[in-house]
Amino acid sequence: MNQWLDDRLHISRLNDKFLRKAFPVHHSFFLGEITLFSLIVLIITGILLALAYEPSNSLVVNTFDPGTATKPNLVPAAYHSALKINAMPFGDMLRRTHHWMANIMVAAAVIHMMRIYFTGAFKKPREINWWIGMLLLIFSALTAVTGYILPYDNYAYNTVKVVYAITASIPWVGDWVAQAAFAGKFPGAGIIPRIYGYHIMLLPGILLALTGAHMLIMIKQKHTQPQYAKRLAYKKIVGVPLITQQTPIMLVLALLFTGLVMLFAAFVPVHPVEFFGPPSTTPINNIKPDWYLLWVFGALAIIPSFEWHLFGGLIGAEFVGALVLPGIVMALMFAVPMLDRTTENQYYAENPTNHPVRLAAGVAFFAMMIVMSVAGYKPELISSGLLTTGNANTILWILTLLVPAVSYFAVIGIVRGIRALREADERESLAHAHADD
Ligand code: HEM
Repeated sequence: MNQWLDDRLHISRLNDKFLRKAFPVHHSFFLGEITLFSLIVLIITGILLALAYEPSNSLVVNTFDPGTATKPNLVPAAYHSALKINAMPFGDMLRRTHHWMANIMVAAAVIHMMRIYFTGAFKKPREINWWIGMLLLIFSALTAVTGYILPYDNYAYNTVKVVYAITASIPWVGDWVAQAAFAGKFPGAGIIPRIYGYHIMLLPGILLALTGAHMLIMIKQKHTQPQYAKRLAYKKIVGVPLITQQTPIMLVLALLFTGLVMLFAAFVPVHPVEFFGPPSTTPINNIKPDWYLLWVFGALAIIPSFEWHLFGGLIGAEFVGALVLPGIVMALMFAVPMLDRTTENQYYAENPTNHPVRLAAGVAFFAMMIVMSVAGYKPELISSGLLTTGNANTILWILTLLVPAVSYFAVIGIVRGIRALREADERESLAHAHADD
């Protein structure tokens, strides 16, 4: 059989080129794989959900609460199909697994990115994979946001209203872009089919293409390796081959991981569509995005309201807070491989404490994202009495700048301390060695 296939498809060449690739054995290297498994489970659960979901905002009678013959209870077909999926055997479980997996995928990608950043794995020759990874992160978040809109309950309706307004806030071309992206003026008749197309075809297609490129580049360039590989065989690839050893490890991990997420989903419900009901004129106060986009909401919350008219266009706080500031943050992240001027890193995952400035800058950046996410809760901070309408913006701005600055210098101080201890240790062992001689 093998020979038969080999004569036709030259499988052995594939085997030599790809399937013998050595994978480093280290827990931190599973983070990228967990992101990959999440993407696969999302695609499988998404296909199953798509079999029962109706991508339309046309009104249909709500069979769960039909109303009367003269006054039928009409709801969007998409919303109705979400209720129907919940009522199907395992339907709710499918929605939960899909939802939690999306959160885990973004979380795993963020932690994976932190591993890459703190160990210098983004440096030459791996800059292209850092940039592709950034795109993966952005498109994962967009895919999740479009997914939230699909059940088309009042929460989703209000969310898409906010996203539409943000898109329309782009100076000069905003209205046109928003109408092109959301199939007409909000809430257009074609809004759900359009978002559905993005969520099940365009965005997953982009994610799959980017993931494919990410993997091929990683195979071509080879992993950075854990420090122990240096001691075992200097500048040689140390690890287990994809076939036959790494694959069973990955399969076991994938099954265990999926099982755990399903167990979690069995106990922790997701967003209750029936609680919010179909879209209505009742606004929902304090709409919040998922945790990974809260920082954008924070930026939007603390930017002072202003309007600046320029050549017939309007530059306002919404545009600056929701698009310009996050754009600057993203640009900074894209620029990481250009900002780090230390020597290239062909082989080994670096010890973060050997690069204190990079370590401190990363921690400061992370601290800033957390403070900005907390700023996303500005209305709640005011209503709880912790802040007042008068001082909220000033205090949140001070914290947004101060906490990262303090974190930066604290990390530099701690790393200096650790290095001083390490050097003292080394001096001591050297002195002992000389004494023994
Ligand atoms: C969102 C989907 C993503 C998937 C499915 C994914 C998957 C993977 C996998 C399986 C690996 C090999 C295992 C490992 O090193 O952990 C890897 C390596 C890598 N990833 Fe990702 N990744 C994603 C996002 C990102 C992000 C957000 C970044 C950074 C901005 C990134 C940058 C890299 C780099 C530079 C490598 C090579 C690491 C090395 O050689 O040590 N990836 N990725």
